[in-house]
Order: sequence, then structure tokens, then C-alpha cells
Amino acid sequence: MQEKQLVGEAAAKLVENNMIVGLGSGSTIFFTLKKLGELVSNGLKMTGVATSRHTEELAKQFNIPIMSLGEVEYLDIAIDGADEIDQGFNLIKGGGGALLREKMVANSARRVVIVADSSKSTKELGGYPLPVEIVPFGWEMTTINIEKTGCSSTLRMKEMNKPYLTDNGNYILDCNYKVISNPKELELKLNMIPGVVENGLFVGVADEIITIKDNVVYVKTK
Ligand code: A5P
Repeated sequence: MQEKQLVGEAAAKLVENNMIVGLGSGSTIFFTLKKLGELVSNGLKMTGVATSRHTEELAKQFNIPIMSLGEVEYLDIAIDGADEIDQGFNLIKGGGGALLREKMVANSARRVVIVADSSKSTKELGGYPLPVEIVPFGWEMTTINIEKTGCSSTLRMKEMNKPYLTDNGNYILDCNYKVISNPKELELKLNMIPGVVENGLFVGVADEIITIKDNVVYVKTK
């Protein structure tokens, strides 16, 4: 079994009866969703809150009951993937473009669990380009202002000459900083730039990381 499947399935086992569960996005979470679908068909009672349209479609496909974020008061747990994780549990997310909804869902959860294969761990963030969601209006000016924070950037494209659009109808700028030495400072600085909707730095959000080494799944807690 591949690493993503092992960690993804392990996270599904944390879900207990009557929990409201944030359902992350990405290829690792796919296995969590599939497993949750099996558990639901075996009698588990839970409600999911999806972080992307794609996850919502998968949840429906696996017969996982879902509600929208606006219909719940809080979430018992949110389970999501990550693109990079540093030693202090800071994350880069948004490789799949769902960072805004992922951050909103994680922010409403009492416990945030990240599932990650062995490639995601790093000493310092920045090796993976940081996704920043920006509004299409004046995006060129927003890009100039974002690059002043010390990165080069690329507008994410879907197909030739067509920008990728998030579920919220926005663009994604992938920002290469090489090293992000102060993630909290950068997270706040980026969100102060007019035109920026949200960025993929998740600082102080994750409570536990379910990861894997030499085919053995283990949990890292803060
Ligand atoms: C989606 O926008 C991301 O934040 C994902 O959680 C992240 O890219 C991890 O994806 P994989 O599980 O596919 O590696």
C-alpha cells in the first residue's frame, strides 16, 4: 500500500459517532474519504464539511453525509493534507488550490489533524512555492506588491492562456521564496495586501500530524 493511502486511512479511524468532520482536499485525503465512506456504510454516524467542490463530490460518491460550513457551529475535527510541514507544525497548503476554504474549515475545528506522506516534512518552509489566492481584478498590481515581500511568482494556469480559477472564482499566484524564515510574519504581511484573499501559510493551526516512516504510520503531537 502506498504512503498516502496508509496515512489517509489512519486518520479516518479518529472519527467517532456524531462527530462533525472537516474534510480536506487532495490525493491523501482521497483515501480518508474512501475509508470514511466504508465506515459510514458500516454504521458510523458523522457529518462532513467539505473544503472544496471536488471533496464535496467525492463525499457524495462515498455516501458521506455533508453540511456546509454555514450550517454548523463548530467542527469536532478537521482532517486535511499539506504540501510542506516544518518542525514547528507550520504548513504550506493550497497545492490543490483549496487553501481559503481549508483555512476557514480548520479555523472552526477543535482539533486539526494533518495527513502527510514522508516527502512533506522539511526543516524550513519555502521549498514548495507558496500559493496565494488573489482576486482577478488588478491581479498584475497585486502580483507586483506580493513580489515586494521577497519572492518571484507565477500565475497558476489551467490550460494555455487561461488562468486556473479557485472554487471562489479567484486566481492563484504560486510564490517562490526559497526559504520562509518567519512564516507568521509573512502570513500576516501577505494578507494585508489589497487584492490578496488568503495565503497558504497555516501557522499554529495543526494539532497533530499523521505521517509515516519505513512503512510505519505514527502520530506527531505538538
Ligand atoms: C489542497 O489545496 C492542498 O492544501 C492539499 O491539502 C495539499 O496540496 C496536499 O495534497 P496531497 O495530499 O495531494 O499531497
